[in-house]
Amino acid sequence: MLTNLQQQPADALLALIKLHNDDPRADKIDLGVGVYRTGEGDTPVFRSIKAAEAKLVAEQDSKAYLGPEGDMGFVEALMPYVFGKADPSMGGRIEGMQTPGGTGSLRLALAMVKRAGYSRIIVGVPSWPNHAQICADLGLEVVEFNHALASGTTDMDALRAAIADAREGDAILLHGCCHNPTGIDYSNAQWDEIAGLIAAAKILPILDLAYQGLGKGMEEDAYGLRRVLAAVPEALICYSCDKNFGLYRDRVGALYAMVGDPADLARVMSNGHNLARANWSQPPDHGGAAVRLVLEDETLTADWLAELDEMRERMREVRAKLAEAGTAGSADLTPMGGQNGLFSIVPLNKDQVLAMRTKHGVYMAGSGRINVAGLTMGNIDKFIAAVADVTA
Ligand code: LMR
Repeated sequence: MLTNLQQQPADALLALIKLHNDDPRADKIDLGVGVYRTGEGDTPVFRSIKAAEAKLVAEQDSKAYLGPEGDMGFVEALMPYVFGKADPSMGGRIEGMQTPGGTGSLRLALAMVKRAGYSRIIVGVPSWPNHAQICADLGLEVVEFNHALASGTTDMDALRAAIADAREGDAILLHGCCHNPTGIDYSNAQWDEIAGLIAAAKILPILDLAYQGLGKGMEEDAYGLRRVLAAVPEALICYSCDKNFGLYRDRVGALYAMVGDPADLARVMSNGHNLARANWSQPPDHGGAAVRLVLEDETLTADWLAELDEMRERMREVRAKLAEAGTAGSADLTPMGGQNGLFSIVPLNKDQVLAMRTKHGVYMAGSGRINVAGLTMGNIDKFIAAVADVTA
């Protein structure tokens, strides 16, 4: 019977990790999967996380189970950063649970909406490929609209039309900041409008916040999410600590639900707990506990925020250098200067992306997405020359 299973393609993005590792060229450049890199090309463990891990090893006295919700100290310590310091639970209307990374959070959120009776998820494309993959696996229909224009700005008309066409009972999945894969975010004024449109259409917002702090700042990157939450009765929020705490392989994330009436919250969250139990039972503890220890300690928190500032600053420098280059062959790199987060799209076709890899040893996603943090002052000229060559 197992032989009935069809061969599945390897995940195109994750497959790049191995292809890059196997390439013997010393000057190869990895712009594939989204991990932050320093100016030296490293992805070190954060200083603040190292210190928290040392404390964890010294002080943790048990590894007994915590339950499907994971470490609630971690979940609650994040809330002021996500929802604002004034009233992080919005009057008792928000509660969360720990999940294995942002993917675990999305999986639970989408399974919850399916269970609640939703069948259509509105998504701006291109999007992170796993969004559509999880929807497909759960039997949810994805309704696509165009996220961005070739000029490098968001396509607000397409978003307005998608919301106007929505049926009551649809959900919309939006990237809170640092859009993956385009780096093209909504402005604050656009978020103000979006919040009103979603509220008027009575559709459920699912907000994916996987890069908080890597766009404009921790507070700035939460603007859209908070604006939407202030306008609607219900929402789901999917959070990842992979990038802003550098915990990628430790799988640290959280799912938050906001409801209109606090009396409904425990019932809604019981579905998250029950789905977690059926999927992974309980989230891995280590990374979440380390984040909690960082956030419980003022000195470690300040150091973590300084590390985030440094990362953001470096990505801004890389983006400024790309914009300064202007064009590379027929590719316009200028818009990248104003984009946010780890990603941008270089306008290359599939053959050109392949030529970047085979001829120049530059690894990037098939969509033309680059991880700008993979560029350094030492390899950026080679990258620009390679783009010029393949588009000449
Ligand atoms: C990415 O888009 O590169 C990251 O979100 C990593 C992943 O899991 O795909």
